[in-house]
Amino acid sequence: MIKIDDDLISLETENTGYYLGKRGNLWETLHYGAKIHPDRLALTEKIDSGYGTDVVYREDMGKDALLHLSLDLSPTHKGDYRQTALDVTLANGSSVCDWTFVSAQINEGTWQSEELPFAHEAEQHLVMTYTGTGGLQVDLVYSVFPEADVITRRMILTNAGQVSVILNRALSYQLDLPNYGYQLSTFTGAWAPERHESVRDLTNGRHAFGSSTGTSSHYCNPFFMIYQEDATEETGAVYGFNLIYSGNHFGQVEVGPYQKMRVMAGIQDDGFSWTLEPGQSFESPEAMLTFSKAGKNGMSQNCHNFVKHHIVSKNWASKERPILLNNWEATYFDFNQRKLLKLAKEAKEVGIELFVLDDGWFGQRNSDTDGLGDYDVNLKKLPSGLAGLAKQINKIGLDFGIWIEPEMVSVKSKLYQEHPDWAVSAPGIEPSLGRHQLVLDLCRPEVQDYIIEQINQLLSSANISYVKWDMNRHLSDIFSPSLSNQGQFYHSWVKGLYRILREIMAKHPDILFEGCSNGGNRFDLGMLCYFPQIWTSDNTDVYERMKIQTGTSYGYPQSTMSCHVSDVPNHQTLRNSPIESRFDVASFGILGYELDVTKLPSADKKILQAQIAYYKEHRKLLQFGSFYRLLSPFKMAEQTRWLVVAEDKGQAVLMDAIGRSQPNQESLPVRLPYLEVDYLYDICNRQEQLDIRQFGSLMNAALPVKVNHQGLAVHVVADHYRMTLEKENYQAYGDLLAHAGIKLNQAFTATGFSDKTRLMPDYGARLYDIIKK
Ligand code: DGJ
Repeated sequence: MIKIDDDLISLETENTGYYLGKRGNLWETLHYGAKIHPDRLALTEKIDSGYGTDVVYREDMGKDALLHLSLDLSPTHKGDYRQTALDVTLANGSSVCDWTFVSAQINEGTWQSEELPFAHEAEQHLVMTYTGTGGLQVDLVYSVFPEADVITRRMILTNAGQVSVILNRALSYQLDLPNYGYQLSTFTGAWAPERHESVRDLTNGRHAFGSSTGTSSHYCNPFFMIYQEDATEETGAVYGFNLIYSGNHFGQVEVGPYQKMRVMAGIQDDGFSWTLEPGQSFESPEAMLTFSKAGKNGMSQNCHNFVKHHIVSKNWASKERPILLNNWEATYFDFNQRKLLKLAKEAKEVGIELFVLDDGWFGQRNSDTDGLGDYDVNLKKLPSGLAGLAKQINKIGLDFGIWIEPEMVSVKSKLYQEHPDWAVSAPGIEPSLGRHQLVLDLCRPEVQDYIIEQINQLLSSANISYVKWDMNRHLSDIFSPSLSNQGQFYHSWVKGLYRILREIMAKHPDILFEGCSNGGNRFDLGMLCYFPQIWTSDNTDVYERMKIQTGTSYGYPQSTMSCHVSDVPNHQTLRNSPIESRFDVASFGILGYELDVTKLPSADKKILQAQIAYYKEHRKLLQFGSFYRLLSPFKMAEQTRWLVVAEDKGQAVLMDAIGRSQPNQESLPVRLPYLEVDYLYDICNRQEQLDIRQFGSLMNAALPVKVNHQGLAVHVVADHYRMTLEKENYQAYGDLLAHAGIKLNQAFTATGFSDKTRLMPDYGARLYDIIKK
């Protein structure tokens, strides 16, 4: 709900409030955080006699100096010595800009962008209009999403003057908060370890972060959070921030001299410059701001609700997603129709629902050196074409999905031969390759048209129900002949991509699109507006996934995370892990398998059948339940605990996993604070199966006869028979679960073994069903 009360504006969600107070020609940010009864006098900054060395802003505003004020829009180079969200160069070369408030208007519903993705179904939005130096007009647009406790902000600049101006920085927001000594967490990484939490103390100065690879990037996700030093997952004040944007981004927290900190984010200004001609407008991406006093989980709940109800398209928001088999790690480029159909048949037998054909089905693409940009099917590999293959896959009883990488071109391709100038490169310089490929110039409408036409044709050519949209390199050598100011390249490229996506999605609303970029290199709210799920990481190692999925969960719900069970030794880490643990971790997301199911021993096939049956039975809860982190793999003996809870709190699933096994260790009681305290629950683990080879020579200590633990007999037995592990069952009230917790059975620790022992080897895990009695 938004209210304007003379010189006080209140933007309120169910539990948060953002309050602005008029101060001369500007508005002061009075408070953002927990919802309050605002009082103008109590909340306003008191500047009576001024402070030493101040530059006083205007005579008619007493001793006010901008550096002491909390401002959503700062006059630039007028004494606010913090960095400002907006920085322009006027035609006369000056960058000094002053702003005067003109009007504030409340509108119902969503502010709809024509060029950028946006959050849908806002309750209301507020447009605050200012005019400024050089004929510039600034509109600050705030939207409220009450049930998600989210407020969004964007800035629109219009040149109402007679001459062009240059935007040097045009962020989506700046937010000034009192500095109570906060910490900052960003989610950083690289290919394979994506979105690991990086914690910084917010000491004096500027703490900047962001991306400059052309996309939102695995180096630093646009989501970040700021919290009181003593905030935990369950308690404390936590702010979360994100951008609905997939290009270069910038974020910063500046701790200034007067107990204030300025938080800002938007398009990366490094390499950015935008010429605004008379009559033109520039719109910044929409930014998400949220706050919770219920700790980091409380803040994550807000982000998750926002993504589920306002970012992901309504078509997919609560539609249960299929369990897929992807052939990539099973075959890489080495496949043919016969092999694919064999995989599909086995997949069907274990319960898979969708078969996804990954890279290598088109042109001469037998490695990652050729063929991107072309869409003709490789008939040597697939003699009956895509339509024929899809038909046969459908006949087996599976849906059919396909991989594409439309933003790229290989030098060895027909497209490059015909249009070498469509590849991004700067005049006179050989462009650098990434994964042997070049980037298409999406700033150019004719290139956008080509992609739209090719993909639309492809998707209509066969019965395709799923698309994995990949993008496997960073941008470099940026230059487009279509632009007169090359500082516009990155943002124009992203806008080109958004036009392509808008047009393709509009034509194929029933196809499920999964985003991918070298794994999780473009995991952001912009892409999620088009693709309801994203390939979280190429790294499917179980231990790495505990960390990656934990990090990702701070800003994104599990329904956006595509998670696959793959083979061991793992292809990224060469690590071995139990197949049951790989499932347990992957089941807290959109489940898929990515391994050669035709080569699995019969015992593993049975395990897969049981896993998939379990997932189907719990799918709604696992994909869309409220997700909470209980223990983090980054702390506490590398133990990971996640919980999903149904809306009515009548059902939940807990995952309990360890990193490296440590002997002689007790684990913490399983405390579950997010259930209903008055309900009586039945808690029971999913009984898992273990490969007896895990015991090595120790098996002779347990068996009545001596065996060669590496011998053929053991392998034959183990391939057909798995050991069923312990069963644990409890009944407990929600208050016990919330405040005391269950002490689980003792884990194996080399002092003995019984049918109660929890065998938890390295990366061991368990799922527990929690059901209201
Ligand atoms: C990178 C993706 O992340 C992988 O899953 C796979 O699709 C390859 N690209 C194919 O080239």
